[in-house]
Amino acid sequence: MTDEVTTPPAPNGQERTVTGVSITLDSVLKRYKGQATPAVERLDLEIEAGDIVAFVGPSGCGKTTTLKMINRLIEPTEGRILIGGRDVTKEPPDKLRQSIGYVIQSGGLFPHWTVAKNVGAIPRVLGWDRKRIAERTEYLLDLVGLDPKTFADRLPKDMSGGQQQRVGVARALAADPPVLLMDEPFGAVDPITRVRLQDSLIAIQHELGKTIVIVTHDFEEATKLGDKVLILSEGGHIEQYARPEEILTSPATPFVQEFVGSGAKLAYLTVQRVRDVECDEVVTARIGEPAQTVIDRAKAAGHSWVVVVDEAGRPRSWPTLEEVASKPEVSDYLDRRLPVIARSSTLNDALDAMLAASQGAALVTDGRGAVVGSLSIGSVTETIQAKLADVRSDEEEPSYETYVDGTDPAPTPVVAAEDELGTAAQDEPGTAAEDEPGTAAEVS
Ligand SMILES: Nc1ncnc2c1ncn2[C@@H]1O[C@H](COP(=O)(O)OP(=O)(O)O)[C@@H](O)[C@H]1O
Ligand SMILES: [Mg+2]
Repeated sequence: MTDEVTTPPAPNGQERTVTGVSITLDSVLKRYKGQATPAVERLDLEIEAGDIVAFVGPSGCGKTTTLKMINRLIEPTEGRILIGGRDVTKEPPDKLRQSIGYVIQSGGLFPHWTVAKNVGAIPRVLGWDRKRIAERTEYLLDLVGLDPKTFADRLPKDMSGGQQQRVGVARALAADPPVLLMDEPFGAVDPITRVRLQDSLIAIQHELGKTIVIVTHDFEEATKLGDKVLILSEGGHIEQYARPEEILTSPATPFVQEFVGSGAKLAYLTVQRVRDVECDEVVTARIGEPAQTVIDRAKAAGHSWVVVVDEAGRPRSWPTLEEVASKPEVSDYLDRRLPVIARSSTLNDALDAMLAASQGAALVTDGRGAVVGSLSIGSVTETIQAKLADVRSDEEEPSYETYVDGTDPAPTPVVAAEDELGTAAQDEPGTAAEDEPGTAAEVS
């Protein structure tokens, strides 16, 4: 095996950067003390360098156990684990963990340490000098969408759950590890923050090309984030390991079918991204620009509104030309209800954002939050309708044989994915019993 990978062009046509390495699980087995059956039974898995792989499955199926065996927070009972082709089962675990970023729910920050001190934790252990740590911290806070000036000296308790989670990601990336492991990282934040954090993670991954393994109990999150999704059932048994589209369109087993739910074909829409749809151009205006200049520019482009942006190109408001004309200069006003979506957002998320803001369109931003265009509800529905037409024509007609051999031609009703997952959301307390540096700091 080799670390080198042929990088297929990303869906938007850009070349992928890959700084991650492959991970191989070779017949890995974990039997906890006093357990009759192994928690994870002979798992073979190949994760490609630069991929995000999402582990999903019901509570207790062995997701966390598998993840923690990769950085040896849990020792495998049998089998080998290779990272970048190197067998790490014999390496000192402390050293191994410095080369693997690890993110848990709520960020797992040390509560009495400032953000900067939290982010610099591993670089300090590695003996980096102050200047290098400070520069790295600033870069990482910016990368995860937090202004270093505002946040570097804050304590975790003075930040929202989503912001703490961003710091957790920055901290995990501090020593530039090739591999990032994440255990239900967005489980404790509200749904809107969750979507934002997911979009940031995709943008960060796009920029850095790490190998990321993320555990989730949310199938939709798995299909949104995962280049590949691993669906596990009890005992760490692989039900399917494939690209999200493949799982949705051809579930491998009845378990997967039930897990994915009857809405599988509709769920296909949640794998459609904003970047797959043609965006409309927007005319931007800077704060303080003369109103007439802006109006002339917008009219020349045939637009009736503009997007006011800050120095970094991030949207502040989207006034109509009449509103612009009411003042001599473009004024600074932050519209808090501005519907903003990322290029990596799913069309589902895009519709949600528009509906939440009662607007017929949303602004599309890049990984750093700069506006790159707008998306109208019309373009979304057109895309969805085209997709639905495709899906319908794919659906098989019940054949004569199915009638005569007595098979019910009607689709078998299955449990909706959400019901199934809702109950899977509560992990049994105490299942993460093995020692885990950082959890001591987990805020409850
Ligand atoms: N430290 C432990 N000691 C004993 N059994 C454990 C321990 N951790 C997990 N288990 C058991 O192993 C199985 C898999 O757990 P886990 O990997 O946490 O599942 P998941 O993350 O998919 O919810 C469960 O049956 C759980 O009860
Ligand atoms: Mg778990």
